[in-house]
Amino acid sequence: MSIPQRPVVIVSNRGPATFTATRNDDDVTTITANRGSGGLVSGLAPLLDSGDARWVAAALSDGDRLAAQFIGNNGSRDINTGTPKVVLQGSDALTQRVDLITMSEREQSSYYDVVSNETLWFIHHGLYDLVRTPGFGPAWWDAWNTYVSINERFAERIAEIAPEGAAVLIQDYHLTLVAETLRPARPDLSLVHFLHTPFAGPDGMRVLPHVARDRMLRSLASHDACGFHTPLWARNFRQCLELFEVEVPNAPRIFNSTLSSDISDIEQTAASQECEVELDRLNQTFNGTQLIVRVDRMELSKNIVRGFEAFDLLLAERPDLRGKVTFLACCYPSRENVPAYRRYREEVEAAADRLNEHWGTSDWQPVHLETNDNYPRSVAALRRYDVLLVNPIRDGLNLVAKEGPAINERSGQLVLSTQAGAWTELSDSAFGINPFDLSATAEALASALDMSPHERADRAAALRRSATARTPDDWLQDQLAASGS
Ligand code: G6P
Repeated sequence: MSIPQRPVVIVSNRGPATFTATRNDDDVTTITANRGSGGLVSGLAPLLDSGDARWVAAALSDGDRLAAQFIGNNGSRDINTGTPKVVLQGSDALTQRVDLITMSEREQSSYYDVVSNETLWFIHHGLYDLVRTPGFGPAWWDAWNTYVSINERFAERIAEIAPEGAAVLIQDYHLTLVAETLRPARPDLSLVHFLHTPFAGPDGMRVLPHVARDRMLRSLASHDACGFHTPLWARNFRQCLELFEVEVPNAPRIFNSTLSSDISDIEQTAASQECEVELDRLNQTFNGTQLIVRVDRMELSKNIVRGFEAFDLLLAERPDLRGKVTFLACCYPSRENVPAYRRYREEVEAAADRLNEHWGTSDWQPVHLETNDNYPRSVAALRRYDVLLVNPIRDGLNLVAKEGPAINERSGQLVLSTQAGAWTELSDSAFGINPFDLSATAEALASALDMSPHERADRAAALRRSATARTPDDWLQDQLAASGS
């Protein structure tokens, strides 16, 4: 990693650490900081570790809320003079250079659940069933006002801690309004916003109440630069600025830069004892069958039910595959405070049950749906798949589509939605599908399963090259370059 010329402040909703608190018999509370996982953290954490950056994030759990009083900007407090006594455990990067923004449960529900995840996420991924939803009434406007005030709270904290002339790298849709407060408060800062989701085009953005939409677009446009994973999302943003006539003194530089996972991190998990145990288990369970795998959050945009429907079609049309191919779906709980996610989980479970009842035999269960989060098992599944299905309705990028090919050990093939940002990098060697086209998805699964060993090996090798062409540091450097660092 090359050293940035300016000091850096990273800003995101979910931070680089999760904090857990335990209290012993002597009334000493130990707060432990554990490094979070995911692409964002592996892309930005090296900067934090090097001591060249601070990170401002939301306190999302009880442990985070307690830790917020003692870490980062508050870390100078003598934590052992209070009652109860508190001990902090974790690297300096996580305990000294992370600042957490606290909010009440009601605020968190409005800012995170209602506006970020039920509204903006749905708009950018095109998830609304517009005949019925959304309807923006007083309760939504209350939530919106909270979203505004939490964004202000982030801005005020950044204004307080950012060194003179720092680059501020703001991540994602939770924080689109930070710049409107931060820009006038600290004109010396260079502001970059990077959006990890797709960006809705004008048709999608028309759904958002106009006052909210225009305010958000104006705030985004007041950054020095705005980044997206693919040119398509960047183009949608540009079109929105034009069509809704967003005026700002200086237009932002708009750039594309795709993120990649830290493959050495995943390889480390792949080499672990836990992963070996999981792989043995998978090999025993799925002995003698080809394996279709998916690894996702239980998330509406991931299109899990249609994935099962396509598998159903495949089994209907290809009797020879019955008993010879199994679908392992690792779908882990996510955002369960949002009713639509809870309902979706029920639909996914019901779809898996339907398939198993219809096609299952005494010695073959066609679908294995795993809903308890188990990272070593997910990595084992990525090592073991014959076909990886990634069929989102829309996805900013989708790191699983790159992680799978990077570590798979069976010349596995990738069936990939052309609506995933990762398609731009993997289109040469993945099987592209329209995520709504069940027939095309079933055909792509069949083609991937039917390939000769020689073809499989060639195509998997090409896929691996494309999937690993970029590193997390490339993405970080693009953001730093956009900030003028
Ligand atoms: C997507 C978003 C991220 C978010 C992640 C997990 O990848 O772009 O900002 O952190 O999903 O979602 P969560 O709501 O659990 O943070």
